[in-house]
Amino acid sequence: MARYLITSALPYINGIKHLGNLAGSMLPADVHGRFRRAQGHEVLMICATDEHGTPAELAAAAAGQDVRTYCDEQHLIQRVAGEAFGLSWDWFGRSSNPPNHRLTQHLAEALEANGLIEERVDRMIYSIDDKRFLPDRYVEGTCPHCAYPKARGDQCDNCGRLLDPTDLIEPYSTVSGSRNLEVRDTRHLYLLQTKLEGRLRAWLESKTDFPSLARSIALKHLDEGLIDRGITRDLSWGIPVTKGGFPRPGFEDKVFYVWFDAPIEYIGATVEWSEQTGGDWERWWRLDKGADDVRYVQVMGKDNVAFHTVSFPATILGSEEPWKLVDVLKAFNWLNWYGGKFSTSQGRGVFMDAALELAAPDYWRWWLTANAPEGSDTAFTWELFQTACNKDLADILGNFVNRILKFTETRFEGRVPEGGEPGELEEKLYADISAAIAEATEQFEAMEYRKAAQAVRRIWVLGNEYLTEAAPWTALKTDPVRAAVIVRTALNLLPLCAAVSGPIIPFASATIAGSVGLTTPLAWPSTDAKAELSKLAPGAPITVPEVMFRKIEDAQVAEWTERFGGAEAA
Ligand code: 2FM
Ligand code: ZN
Repeated sequence: MARYLITSALPYINGIKHLGNLAGSMLPADVHGRFRRAQGHEVLMICATDEHGTPAELAAAAAGQDVRTYCDEQHLIQRVAGEAFGLSWDWFGRSSNPPNHRLTQHLAEALEANGLIEERVDRMIYSIDDKRFLPDRYVEGTCPHCAYPKARGDQCDNCGRLLDPTDLIEPYSTVSGSRNLEVRDTRHLYLLQTKLEGRLRAWLESKTDFPSLARSIALKHLDEGLIDRGITRDLSWGIPVTKGGFPRPGFEDKVFYVWFDAPIEYIGATVEWSEQTGGDWERWWRLDKGADDVRYVQVMGKDNVAFHTVSFPATILGSEEPWKLVDVLKAFNWLNWYGGKFSTSQGRGVFMDAALELAAPDYWRWWLTANAPEGSDTAFTWELFQTACNKDLADILGNFVNRILKFTETRFEGRVPEGGEPGELEEKLYADISAAIAEATEQFEAMEYRKAAQAVRRIWVLGNEYLTEAAPWTALKTDPVRAAVIVRTALNLLPLCAAVSGPIIPFASATIAGSVGLTTPLAWPSTDAKAELSKLAPGAPITVPEVMFRKIEDAQVAEWTERFGGAEAA
């Protein structure tokens, strides 16, 4: 048994998340966590809302609310939506909670003590009409690298480059749209990442376990050359720089930059968890308190990789304190909405709350895992969603489960039949299933989501093929003992299907397990298929569930396209 700490990128508080956010961080983290739990490992799954910075302030202003009230409401909305999707966090915290304030201020002090913080005069964009500085997302303009016209002050959504507001061409205020801007001096604290370059590179080069996308992005950032980063902002909402005892005259009205405090909330949320549950957070985070045997897995979209392979490790390494660093970082490309981008700020795409009004969570969980944007960006379309759900879930899995249970109900009095010995067909099934379990295990362990989903699907297909080939309805006419063997074997495939599907489609897994009297989560199966397929007690009762997966009709696709847009919306 090992210990797995799993965090997904913290969703911004600025509104309910779209399917792209779900697909690239929260869902795959959950799938991996469920898989590791099923294997019997000790798992701590942590997430939180990322509540500071300009995304929070701008969204609150747009909603006409003060930021605190806005964050309170949105945190709850995101938590409820996540739980409805089956995201099985051990804790869903808030970066605005006190533990993160304490930890952020503490780490800044440690960095200061180690000579890694420097006060510099910055030239920042000031809006004369708005009478304020415009950090990060308060300013937009044309990207100097790719000419995207709506690049934000902190990052270009199109090419992914990190930006400084003064890099933007023809900038304008997102508060008022004003172009009446000037560059003014303001003092800020800088984290001297350049001093840590050698250590960061050595650490990163030792991370040969990182899946390739994360590793290549991380090394590219290092190769482009590190720069020292400003870690404070002229904003009122955030973690105050001076209130934690950090002595900085002139910084009384400044806060830490959201990207400084947000990753620290991975630790902060674990502290919240321990305060509420009595758990021991240090056992997960402090190398001097037993965390050295933790395997720490982070999951995120590709735009977050630099922050997690450079900025956050710079904070941790620079503190010279024994904090746990990430072991495996799984990054994702974009899930696109048809050819274009999902967008929270522009409301384009399908959002988590609306998605659940259309289809049960397992439909989404299945599609988004089986089509995870791993090798390249992936397009979501209604037609692809309909085709995959109808085929994989309804025709293959649902059909198999329904066929064998119905047949048992009508022909074997709703009980697992007794008698008879496995024959040639069963031996072949054992061999095929063993190979498929081995493949699924390997792909789940490697966090190769598409391949893991295909291996799970292969087990469903094998079940269907076995039933069709063995044809118990025919055998029953001439050889009832043979029919009993087939039905018993096929029924035993149900808990196996439930177990391997559990990480991806936990709700269906529970229904399938329930049909043969079991409760989920089920343990991950061994590759001894014969043993796995001999577990149900002969004579045990079964029940036939309601139709598990209704097909998505063409009329629904038409209605959804009308409501949410389709190709033309992107
Ligand atoms: O890009 C985002 O959505 C950020 N809110 C991710 C933060 S991850 C972590 F560092 F908090
Ligand atoms: Zn760009």
